[in-house]
Amino acid sequence: MAEHAEYPAYPVGLRLSGRRVVVIGGGQVAQRRLPALIAAGADIVLISPSATPSVEAMAKADEIRWERRRYAEGDLADAWYALIASSDPDANTTASAEAERNRVWCVRSDDAEAATAWTPATGRSAGVTVAVLTGQDPRRSAAVRDAIVEALGDGSLAAPYFRTHEDSPRVALVGGGPGDPDLITVRGRRLLAEADVVIADRLGPRDLLDELPPHVEVIDAAKIPYGRFMAQEAINNALIEHAKAGKAVVRLKGGDPYVFGRGMEEAQALAAEGIPCTVVPGISSSISVPSAAGIPVTHRGVAHEFTVVSGHVAPDDPRSLVDWAALARLRGTLVILMGVDKIGAIARALVAHGKSAETPVAVIQEGTTAAQRRVDATLATVAERVEAEDVRPPAVIVIGDVVTITPEQAAE
Ligand SMILES: C[S@@+](CC[C@H](N)C(=O)[O-])C[C@H]1O[C@@H](n2cnc3c(N)ncnc32)[C@H](O)[C@@H]1O
Repeated sequence: MAEHAEYPAYPVGLRLSGRRVVVIGGGQVAQRRLPALIAAGADIVLISPSATPSVEAMAKADEIRWERRRYAEGDLADAWYALIASSDPDANTTASAEAERNRVWCVRSDDAEAATAWTPATGRSAGVTVAVLTGQDPRRSAAVRDAIVEALGDGSLAAPYFRTHEDSPRVALVGGGPGDPDLITVRGRRLLAEADVVIADRLGPRDLLDELPPHVEVIDAAKIPYGRFMAQEAINNALIEHAKAGKAVVRLKGGDPYVFGRGMEEAQALAAEGIPCTVVPGISSSISVPSAAGIPVTHRGVAHEFTVVSGHVAPDDPRSLVDWAALARLRGTLVILMGVDKIGAIARALVAHGKSAETPVAVIQEGTTAAQRRVDATLATVAERVEAEDVRPPAVIVIGDVVTITPEQAAE
């Protein structure tokens, strides 16, 4: 009310689930406000002769009940809360007088001073609802809201959990992307910012570890001093031990946790101890590293498929699960991970099974990082080129005609 305008609004979180909310007017204001009311589980009645197509769709989906008529005295009788936003100022005034008489908190789109409640600029991120009121300046409220939501989202503003809640997974297997710290997901970065313990791989966005506060324990999985198998067991044990100690644990992995990442083995080890974990997908190097080096893994008219293969064992190794003869017959792109050491044997196997020795090959080392470099070859020359250029892991090898496509080539 005008005479109270010098007082700040009293903030409160309304729990509207199952409670009647009456919305008068089905225009743009209703369209903007209704989704949050629906999300709050309110029992919404819209009173309006017309509605925007989006509002109409909400009625068709039974998210709101729409009475196609003008406001009439008595419409607010059962309401806990009202949004008055019709294009008829007289109806708005009468409805807001009814709200005042019935002690129904009411928002008015046409006259903030006459309203008994104001809608804050709201947003949600990291399980936190942000609501901002700045008096009569909605754009300022929205700017503050955006800044907070963005900071919560990217983890630059931490929202640590102090009570265990089902929303707060204690262990997260986070795909960190190929290495560039900007290529981790928003969710991954947020969980990293909330972690007490981070167990990090050699690959992935290691620069982000520098940003962690001093109390965070960082365990370098690459330095665990056992053989391959024991190292994995030691990682599993560390995950279990810290989770049982009530810590928020992030297992930060390169690329995606489930692409040659042993992520499922870790999830299984945790499950065996009854510890739930959340998996945050990551941008796999198998696609992002070629992309960062200018290679599309598919291209219209050139490749309709791409196949991602592990090259960590040679084609003639009895442990190999890869059908190299079948791969040699494919027209599409082959993407090989962990294949630098075995590229000679792999190239020979593909040619022996019928792939042209002139098939283009690109080897991209340390993709998306400052040290990224690309070596081009063919199946006939790749082993020699890798040796001559001293290419080292980590590298992604791309085999196929997509390797020679450039942005300068005219599209057909
Ligand atoms: C154990 S696999 C893990 C793959 C990871 N989970 C992913 O989705 O990208 C490791 C291999 O991924 C590839 N790789 C990962 N990051 C890379 C990068 N930044 N540049 C080049 N290759 C990379 C290399 O082939 C490396 O040997």
